Amino acid sequence: MAKVIFEKVVKRYQSNARDTVRELSLAIDDGEFLVLVGPSGCGKSTVLRMLAGLISVTDGKISIDGKDITRLPPKDRDISMVFQNYALFPHLDVYDNVAFGLKMRGAPKNEIDDRVREAAALLGIEPLLHKKPKELSGGQSQRVAVGRAIVRRPKVFLFDEPLSNLDAKMRTQMRAEISRLHRRLKATAIYVTHDQCEAMTMADRMVVLHDGVIEQCGTPHEIYSAPRNTFVATFIGSPPMNLFAAEFTSAGGAAGLKINNLTLPLPPQLSAGGAARLETGRKYTFGIRPEHIYLAERIFPGVNACAPLACEVELAESMGNDVVLHCNSGGLAFQASLKHDFPVKSGDRINVVFALDKSHIFGENGERGI
Ligand SMILES: Nc1ncnc2c1ncn2[C@@H]1O[C@H](COP(=O)(O)OP(=O)(O)OP(=O)(O)O)[C@@H](O)[C@H]1O
Ligand SMILES: [Mg+2]
Repeated sequence: MAKVIFEKVVKRYQSNARDTVRELSLAIDDGEFLVLVGPSGCGKSTVLRMLAGLISVTDGKISIDGKDITRLPPKDRDISMVFQNYALFPHLDVYDNVAFGLKMRGAPKNEIDDRVREAAALLGIEPLLHKKPKELSGGQSQRVAVGRAIVRRPKVFLFDEPLSNLDAKMRTQMRAEISRLHRRLKATAIYVTHDQCEAMTMADRMVVLHDGVIEQCGTPHEIYSAPRNTFVATFIGSPPMNLFAAEFTSAGGAAGLKINNLTLPLPPQLSAGGAARLETGRKYTFGIRPEHIYLAERIFPGVNACAPLACEVELAESMGNDVVLHCNSGGLAFQASLKHDFPVKSGDRINVVFALDKSHIFGENGERGI
């Protein structure tokens, strides 16, 4: 059992005028894989370091299984952390690197041996046990660093961007290995990344952090399909969600959103009653993901689409399976992501439609989804 609770946790570094982490409250369930994601400098490492006890907490409380650990020394917290720069000891071989923490704690020799061999088997590093770190590839070193963390069988695992030094292929492979490992160990894990793809694929739940504040917490699907504000909407998803300034109109009895010269009928999820929450003449932000824009002639049956919009393809970027189109419709710029089975090239004129069921409406300044 290891349930981690942050209660109104604040971190202020002496040299900074404002708080780096601001009244952060969060409960992480036993056995959960929680991913903390956010732009560089938003406070992700700071949150992990406070939990590990590597830096002090300015205000608030952190507990594990009901025990207040806010001021406990790191060695008494039963936490293992894997860092981005997982510096292995260069003079020790892999075996001794993995065994190091246990030796320091004075564990009996046969127990150390059992645990190191068990971890090595789990990670597929048995053939490397007698190699020195300089003889290892990046991915192998990474496995050793994870091995060093798991032999201690801690209550909580912390990972701070452990894969960022690896190439793209190795990242994808290690990411799957860490997920599998977590399923076997069933330990509580908090994983920090600024890679949204890693976050989406690994997380049971993810927390989007911005300027030391939680913008949203939920399953990857919840965060993708119902972002709480435009920060989350544009941070998760690639290419990012298109956002347009819109005005609500009910001219002639038909409720709609006016974007430039274009009036979109109100998305169906809002037209039934929800329209009452929109005010005529007030400004909103309309959002549509690139993958929810279709070629008008290719629209799937059952998609609730707006009227076709003529636009020019300013740039077509092929991604292999998909093609990203940078479109312009009378000054309205947006990106559409289409399957690659239809030849569209830069300079073409096409007609597109927005799938209104999948659209989002936020306040004028990007606050709260409606
Ligand atoms: N020891 C420190 N003293 C003063 N300020 C610090 C210290 N460590 C971090 N900061 C500042 O706190 C903010 C958050 O830093 P943190 O390392 O937690 O960000 P991060 O989200 O992990 O970013 P990255 O994705 O780049 O690793 C940054 O503005 C950083 O400059
Ligand atoms: Mg960091």
